[in-house]
Amino acid sequence: MKHHQDKKNVIAKCMFFIMIICKVNCSPPEDPIKCTLNNSNCTITNTYGAFPDRSLCRAAKVVYPKTEEELISAVANATMTNTRMKVATRSSHSIPKLVCPEGDNGLLISTKYLNRTLDVNVSSMTMTVESGMTLRQLINDAAKAKLALPYAPYWWGLTIGGMMGTGAHGSSLWGLGSQVHDYVIRLRIVTPATAEEGYAKVRTLEIGNPELDAAKVSLGVLGVISQVTLKLQPLFKRSVTYITKNDSDFGDEAVIFGRQHEYADFTWYPSQKQVVYRIDDRVPSNTSGNGLLDFPGFRSTASVLLSGLRTTEETEELLGDADGKCRNGKWTTSILKTMAYGLTNDGILFTGFPVVGYHNRLQASGTCLDSLEDLTITACPWDHRVKSLFFHQTTFSISLSQVKNFIEDVQKLVALEPKSTCGLDLYNGILMRYITASTAYLGIQENALDFDITYYRSKDPTNPRLYEDILEEIEQIAMFKYGALPHWGKNRNVAFDGAIKKYKNASEFLKVKNQYDPQGLFSSSWTDQILGLNGAVVSIDKEGCALEGLCVCSQDIHCAPKKNYFCRPGKVYRDARVCTKVDAK
Ligand SMILES: Cc1cc2nc3c(=O)[nH]c(=O)nc-3n(C[C@H](O)[C@H](O)[C@H](O)COP(=O)(O)OP(=O)(O)OC[C@H]3O[C@@H](n4cnc5c(N)ncnc54)[C@H](O)[C@@H]3O)c2cc1C
Ligand SMILES: *[C@@H]1O[C@H](CO)[C@@H](O)[C@H](O)[C@H]1NC(C)=O
Ligand SMILES: *[C@@H]1O[C@H](CO)[C@@H](O)[C@H](O)[C@H]1NC(C)=O
Ligand SMILES: *[C@@H]1O[C@H](CO)[C@@H](O)[C@H](O)[C@H]1NC(C)=O
Ligand SMILES: *[C@@H]1O[C@H](CO)[C@@H](O)[C@H](O)[C@H]1NC(C)=O
Ligand SMILES: *[C@@H]1O[C@H](CO)[C@@H](O)[C@H](O)[C@H]1NC(C)=O
Ligand SMILES: *[C@@H]1O[C@H](CO)[C@@H](O)[C@H](O)[C@H]1NC(C)=O
Ligand SMILES: *[C@@H]1O[C@H](CO)[C@@H](O)[C@H](O)[C@H]1NC(C)=O
Ligand SMILES: *[C@@H]1O[C@H](CO)[C@@H](O)[C@H](O)[C@H]1NC(C)=O
Repeated sequence: MKHHQDKKNVIAKCMFFIMIICKVNCSPPEDPIKCTLNNSNCTITNTYGAFPDRSLCRAAKVVYPKTEEELISAVANATMTNTRMKVATRSSHSIPKLVCPEGDNGLLISTKYLNRTLDVNVSSMTMTVESGMTLRQLINDAAKAKLALPYAPYWWGLTIGGMMGTGAHGSSLWGLGSQVHDYVIRLRIVTPATAEEGYAKVRTLEIGNPELDAAKVSLGVLGVISQVTLKLQPLFKRSVTYITKNDSDFGDEAVIFGRQHEYADFTWYPSQKQVVYRIDDRVPSNTSGNGLLDFPGFRSTASVLLSGLRTTEETEELLGDADGKCRNGKWTTSILKTMAYGLTNDGILFTGFPVVGYHNRLQASGTCLDSLEDLTITACPWDHRVKSLFFHQTTFSISLSQVKNFIEDVQKLVALEPKSTCGLDLYNGILMRYITASTAYLGIQENALDFDITYYRSKDPTNPRLYEDILEEIEQIAMFKYGALPHWGKNRNVAFDGAIKKYKNASEFLKVKNQYDPQGLFSSSWTDQILGLNGAVVSIDKEGCALEGLCVCSQDIHCAPKKNYFCRPGKVYRDARVCTKVDAK
């Protein structure tokens, strides 16, 4: 048995090295929309192939407008016929069901072909793009004009409309902070309108207009953003160094580090009591270096490796092999470190820190977007068309004034159950990024640290996870004890429970929504639930609901009593209710 397992680990380890930088045989992410007839009788899912409740969403029709005129006509047609609509993007990266129109008869409006740069003005340092443009295109087109979006998410595949839909961000406390929407100075949004107005109209929102504070983070419920104008900066260079430290004083460090370095972030491995600090600042543009980021987790990865990694994880779960997870977790961490987290000094080789290079080559990456169709060879690591990584993501921001307490609570839990967070290390630990208070009504309310926690999700929703209780407790400590704000594009349902009450200006948002779309054609039960409308609640009460984060358990049946998982109070936060394994006597 022991021998067998060692051998399997060796195989998994070897496979990890077969990562192929995509040149020929790779598969780009698929269009999340599938139709049986000519763009009708359609289904939509997200990039992971599963929403939190595992439903498949349906729509009667999809349209792919190529111009703003076609977009207006699509919204007008749907408004005239009282049809529910939703905006969909080329790859639908959000986990919650934001993209699902209500019912089966809705319309999907895809921004896939709204992906042009319309204007770059070097003297005013502004750039106007269509909303379906990916972050990669945006970064590249800006760089061609020697301009830069100063802060952005780390993954190239997101679209500008999607990033604004959910408040996507990178990491910084400097300037206006790391959320893309805070660099938007003008946008055009197509909303329903009266018959006299032709059933649809374009509204142009400029900076200073309070309606822009609604549209900047809109959850897609206000209408279709057509064009966005961003305020950019002259392209600059950065210098990046990663250092690893123990997490003894991390609660204190986490509060101050973001003031010391413009692009500071952390990767925390609580089970290993280690933190990787990213020391990352602007440097003069004559500093030599042409560094490049190609993050391993966003590379085209051999399908055989993905399947091997998943099988290893499934086996560890099945056998309750926490030690195996800890071993593989440490090993994954050390591989990433050896690979310098995907950094090279010149685009080819890593020779040592600091890595100096232009911002557009260091801010984000995603070579698994590059293409030619052959799934049997490589894919993005989470591509659901092959056997690959399948996980939950719990992602929230905690105000800087509370961060120390939160970190110490997690450390207390880990002290009680030292192996409980090894599983996170397989997904590169907890990524922590700085974000700042925004004027967006549904944006960040106070300067905060965002925690990105990725962990195993079973293919079978009735299967509890190893140390189910610990991650549920961390989730509840964040959301309920420290009033964390959920990332709108990630998370399980519980994170949205009562979340809208945490936004001071939520009522302003709802006023704009009523004004733009009084019939709620862009809304759905899900968006009504997260916006707290009509007394709707997010929680789904059913057998096993807590296992998938659809509810907080209040009865054993919400867990898996037949598999010895019962609803119990938390270990550090007694108000938490979590599915705990109670060993039979
Ligand atoms: C691999 C990966 C890496 C990620 N990295 C980060 C990261 O570094 N930082 C971060 O913050 N997040 C990150 N995310 C999460 C991501 O930010 C959100 O899921 C993102 O907003 C989704 O973008 P999308 O373009 O796929 O939009 P979708 O998920 O398709 O759409 C999101 C919402 O926006 C609406 N919408 C989209 N376009 C428009 C439009 N033109 N007009 C009106 N509404 C619109 C949609 O209707 C929907 O409600 C990551 C996700 C993945 C899968
Ligand atoms: C499909 O679309 C084509 C071209 O738009 C059209 O000619 C054809 O009639 C459509 N078929 C159906 C079944 O709707
Ligand atoms: C519509 O799609 C469903 C599957 O999504 C399929 O079962 C059904 O046959 C389709 N209907 C038509 C008319 O094609
Ligand atoms: C809107 O409806 C008109 C008339 O039915 C049709 O010609 C047009 O193609 C429709 N536009 C879109 C984008 O669906
Ligand atoms: C826009 O998207 C389409 C469809 O994916 C693609 O063919 C085209 O090359 C893209 N345009 C630009 C400017 O990238
Ligand atoms: C660029 O912006 C400047 C300043 O706002 C403006 O005066 C100029 O007309 C713009 N140039 C173009 C080509 O639009
Ligand atoms: C953590 O590192 C500090 C020095 O950076 C050291 O003083 C301390 O003893 C270390 N703690 C542990 C538990 O190793
Ligand atoms: C960069 O330029 C500054 C002046 O702008 C100069 O003082 C410095 O020596 C230069 N550094 C290098 C590495 O060339
Ligand atoms: C939003 O909230 C802030 C703080 O409560 C308040 O000062 C501001 O006036 C609000 N904005 C609007 C438009 O209500």
